[in-house]
Amino acid sequence: MARTKIAVIGCGFFAPNHLHAWSELPDAELVAVCDLDEKKATDAAAQFSVPSVFADAAEMIVVAKPDFVDIVTTMASHLMLVELCAANGIPAIVQKPFGPTFDDCVAMVRVCKDAGVMLMVHENFRFQHPMRQVKAALDTGTIGDPVWGRISFRTGYDVKAGQHYLFDEERFIVLDLGIHVLDLARFFFGEVETVYSRHARIDPRVKGEDMATMVLGHVTGATSIVDCTYESRQIPDFFPQTLVTIEGTKGALDLEPDFRLSISADGARRVVDVSTPLRAWTSQPWHVAQDSVYHTQAHALAALAGGYEPETSGADNLKTYALVDAAYLSAKSGECIRI
Ligand SMILES: NC(=O)c1ccc[n+]([C@@H]2O[C@H](COP(=O)([O-])OP(=O)(O)OC[C@H]3O[C@@H](n4cnc5c(N)ncnc54)[C@H](O)[C@@H]3O)[C@@H](O)[C@H]2O)c1
Repeated sequence: MARTKIAVIGCGFFAPNHLHAWSELPDAELVAVCDLDEKKATDAAAQFSVPSVFADAAEMIVVAKPDFVDIVTTMASHLMLVELCAANGIPAIVQKPFGPTFDDCVAMVRVCKDAGVMLMVHENFRFQHPMRQVKAALDTGTIGDPVWGRISFRTGYDVKAGQHYLFDEERFIVLDLGIHVLDLARFFFGEVETVYSRHARIDPRVKGEDMATMVLGHVTGATSIVDCTYESRQIPDFFPQTLVTIEGTKGALDLEPDFRLSISADGARRVVDVSTPLRAWTSQPWHVAQDSVYHTQAHALAALAGGYEPETSGADNLKTYALVDAAYLSAKSGECIRI
């Protein structure tokens, strides 16, 4: 079977992970890269042996004729680029955050639906190896039905050094990082009916909030606490690990630091190592995130080939995005928001 011809738009900070993953996936063939900054695109093409380079996405689509477009730009350009793909009948995957507003996200879902093309959001946290292991453990039923939990991403890692645009985001930590952790809450506990959130700004140099604590009421009756910050002073610092606690009707599980998954059930506790194996191009401590990019893109290709909706389709991601908006509304009003 012919390989899927992939074009990547956006060759900035995070793109090398996408390019490495596409290069490793046997069913994918990188045919073009594009960046408004042509030097970035040229450098990426040289590093990953990509045959054609563009500074204009519309031109790239006409000339390179990709089967699938990977959009790795920041959110302001997502709607315009997704519309361009849809207009040319080309499916796309777009990095998180899906868009700057819920309306933009809805517009992207609609335009792809009307064009009959797949749209996936690159929501990679649920594709992290440890998170798949947590979900698999939950699905065995060993701990029963989840009733309470906490999903926590706390670090003092200087994320803004690599991603300067984060200084200027009016909506920072919940939209940039919380969106991943909220998606995990949906993945483990199911859909959400209420959100209460408190936010703080710790680093005075950022425009938005950089610490958030959210309490989610799930449709099942379960409650989860979702918290995230880049301003934690804990030692040791576990960046970029997400820690998870889930209490169920028959037991409990904990994804502890350094990828130890402890499962308590039937009066006993066992601990499993769920650390992520290294790939040729991944390195500690980022490997858990880098590896998830590979699995996200593998899932996109499988969904495309199989003609089914990906787990984190545009339509699915609207539900995560609604929780982001609810968190901001709650933090502003001091009220618990019903979804
Ligand atoms: N999933 C994750 O774990 C993760 C981690 C980091 C960043 N991200 C996301 O990835 C996205 C990109 O982040 P980044 O840090 O790489 O940003 P970046 O600013 O470093 O790179 C984006 C690139 O896109 C290019 N670009 C913008 N508009 C374009 C257009 N219309 N046509 C062609 N090129 C265009 C820019 O010139 C820039 O080089 C963001 O949405 C960010 O939130 C995700």
